[in-house]
This record gives sequence, C-alpha cells and structure tokens, in this order.
Amino acid sequence: MKALVLAGGTGTRLRPITHTAAKQLVPVANKPVLFYGIESLVAAGITDLGIIVGDTEEEIRAAVGDGRAFGATVTYIRQERALGLAHAVLVARDYLAQDDFVMYLGDNFIVGGINELVRKFEAEKPDADILLTRVDDPSVFGVVELDATGRVVRLQEKPPEPASDLALVGVYLFTPAIHEAVRAIRPSRRGELEITDAIQELVDRGLTVRSTTITGYWKDTGNVPDMLEVNRSVLDTIEPCLEGSVDEASEIIGRVRVGRGARVRRSRIVGPAVIGDDAVVTDSYVGPSTSVAENCVIESSEIEFSIVLAGSSLKGVGRIEASLIGKDVQVSRALHTPRAHRLVLGDHSKVQITP
Ligand code: G1P
Repeated sequence: MKALVLAGGTGTRLRPITHTAAKQLVPVANKPVLFYGIESLVAAGITDLGIIVGDTEEEIRAAVGDGRAFGATVTYIRQERALGLAHAVLVARDYLAQDDFVMYLGDNFIVGGINELVRKFEAEKPDADILLTRVDDPSVFGVVELDATGRVVRLQEKPPEPASDLALVGVYLFTPAIHEAVRAIRPSRRGELEITDAIQELVDRGLTVRSTTITGYWKDTGNVPDMLEVNRSVLDTIEPCLEGSVDEASEIIGRVRVGRGARVRRSRIVGPAVIGDDAVVTDSYVGPSTSVAENCVIESSEIEFSIVLAGSSLKGVGRIEASLIGKDVQVSRALHTPRAHRLVLGDHSKVQITP
C-alpha cells in the first residue's frame, strides 16, 4: 500500500499565517501539521509516500527531505496548478500504478492515527473507505449522506444547504478503481476536479464505498480558536524533556519541553508547554497550552494559551493570551510618548487591544 500526501494548495483560510508559508507546515506543539500525518502513515506501515507539491514545493522539500527522518521514502510529484484533489490523483497516476493507497490531505490532523482504518481496509477490501466526522458547519466540507444501514448514498462538495452534519475528513482509502472515476468526472462549479465527485462516481457504478466515522479531528478552517484548541490537546500528551538550560532562579512546572540550545532565565513555565530550540525566555511567565517555536525571544512578558512561530520576539509587553503570532514578528513596548499603539500589520491580521 502506498500513500498520496497532498501538500500543494494555497491556504487562504489561515491568513495571514499562510500568506508566506505552506499551510501544511503550520505548527501544532512546534511540529508541522504535515509531520503528524506522515508519522501516522509510517506508524500504519505505509512508507512509500508520494507527496503532491505546488508553488510551495521548495518549502515542503526543505522540511520533509527524502523521508528518511520519518523512516519513509518520498517521491515528490508536481501539480502545476491547484485543480482539485481528484486532479492530484490523475497527476500521480504513474506513481500509484496498481497499488491501493491512502490519500492524506497534509493540512488535516487526525487524533489517534490511522492504524485501525488501514487494517480494516486491508481485511475487508472495499473499493474505497472514507472517513467522516460530525461538524458544526458542514457547508465548508464535503458532506456525506448515509442510508439507514450506514451505506454511503450521496456526497456533495461544500453544499450551501448540507443534507447531514457528516463531513469528509481528509483521509481516503482507495483501490485502483478510483483512477477510472477521476477520469470520468467534470470540473465542479469552483472549477476543480473534486474527489467528492469521483467517490460519488464509484457509488453510482455500484462499487462498495464504506465509511468510518471518527472523533478527534482538526483542519485549518481558518479558525484561530480551533487551532489553539488542537495545540492545547496535543500539548496535553507531550513527554516532558529539558534539553536546553534552565537557571536556578527559574521554575518549571508540569509537562514542559525545553528544546536544544534554549535558555530559560528567571522565568516560570507552567505546562503543558513547549519552548523551541534556541529560544530565550527571560524574566517571563509562559503559561499552560503555549507553544513557543525555535529562535523566539520572550523577555519581561507573560504569555498563555498561545502559539508563537519561529523567530518572533515579545519584549516587555505585559500579558498575552489566546494569540497566534506568526514568524519573525516583533512585539515590544512603546518607549516614547505619546503612549500610543504603533502597529505594522500584514494583510488579514487581527489585533485586539486593551486600552
Ligand atoms: C477538501 C475536500 C472536502 C473535505 C476537506 C477536508 O476541501 O474537498 O471534501 O471535506 O478537504 O479537509 P478543501 O480543503 O479543498 O476546501
């Protein structure tokens, strides 16, 4: 069995974080969301991975490399334009050959991995197995209707009036039967070849499409509270580990990871929290459910329930909560009068100020 991992696309939903970076590399507990996907594939015994890349190819290649670090072999497959998930299957036709495969969307996060699903698929051998989860707003997903016996009868891509609250999760198990289906469909209203339509094609042809409903799922719907929540739940499971240096005047409480080369001085860190490699925390408080990425500087500040991406600094800014801070951002105290907020914010930024 192979895997087709999708890591193309543009990532409009998590702007401004994904203006400049691949959405699949958005970190959860300081690890790109894509790495969790790759690790669950390898854990399920799938090590032959084809990764679909687009405009952010370089960034994805730099992060994943040849796959050896994951115990996998990676083949990069270029998709020149983001023409849909079914188009990605077309582009990967030669790579996939006659093998069954798991299609895994690189911006999806499945808590608890996919071992069981893969075993079930191998044992029962349906023509396809799709993953579903109940969501509050199905209209931003592929939506599935099941009949009374649980059989898949209809799939619709982002319907304005969803017929159920069962959304397609971005993990699909396919046999080579999918190749004919992706060739048979036409582009959708949004101009893409939808995998949702290709699966409907399998259903219409009388092939067996099974479904498995899971809990514990997250995707980058652009919703920052959701992202903080998935970060929180992953931090709850980390193994504490102090690789950097913590001075005597500092206090580390609970599940905390301090990365290599990181320095904690006169500070209090209350887990679950991670401090990335080479980050420096001085005279500060880092509270529960916080991820501070590599090379950040936190000085005379307090931060809790937040995510800070690589290379950013917070200096003398008081308390920050429930925030998502991008790469190489500088937040500092205004030293001159008038006492005013001075902001340089990228497009689509969101700031809440306490006057
Ligand atoms: C895609 C699929 C959709 C699925 C979703 C899961 O949506 O088209 O059916 O529910 O992934 O992540 P997209 O991310 O392209 O909006």
